[in-house]
Amino acid sequence: MCAKKALQKPLVGIIMGSKSDLEIMREVCIVLDSFNIPYEMNILSAHRTPEQTSAYAKGAEKKGLKVLIAGAGCAAHLAGVITSHSILPVIGVPINASPLNGLDALLSTVQMPGGMPVATVSIGKAGAKNAAILAVEILATGDKAIRPKLRRYRARLSKAVLDSGKDIH
Ligand code: RP5
Repeated sequence: MCAKKALQKPLVGIIMGSKSDLEIMREVCIVLDSFNIPYEMNILSAHRTPEQTSAYAKGAEKKGLKVLIAGAGCAAHLAGVITSHSILPVIGVPINASPLNGLDALLSTVQMPGGMPVATVSIGKAGAKNAAILAVEILATGDKAIRPKLRRYRARLSKAVLDSGKDIH
């Protein structure tokens, strides 16, 4: 299970449609932990728990959350429903949970009507990772202390690529 920062007030709300999404959504926790960003995590479904999902989204801003990350598979309406109840930025992670390998979730998540944005990342683990980085970048716009950490993260990525090419012939 992801580590929870019990003593700090969560800034990021992670929501997923089913416990079966957890393996992928753990990637979000790994990144947020590495940046020391407090978060909370809940399983809520747009289809199976519509009332609880709406209540969570409606209360998110008041709770002090700054960014919401919603992961769902199949006919993935979770991120869109959350957006419909909150003006917080919502990042959608399409989960590859069906025979369509996440293409269904990608299109369901990304194709929002004008005025109701969901910042949709790629399908699966890379998307979950990018959702977390994007959340950190959003938080960094209002918190200068996070910015050097993001720069160091990028520098590490660059170094890893350059290092990986050193021993090829
Ligand atoms: C979606 O349906 C969930 O987000 C999950 O990705 C998918 C399958 O859910 P389970 O049937 O595994 O609970 O709502």
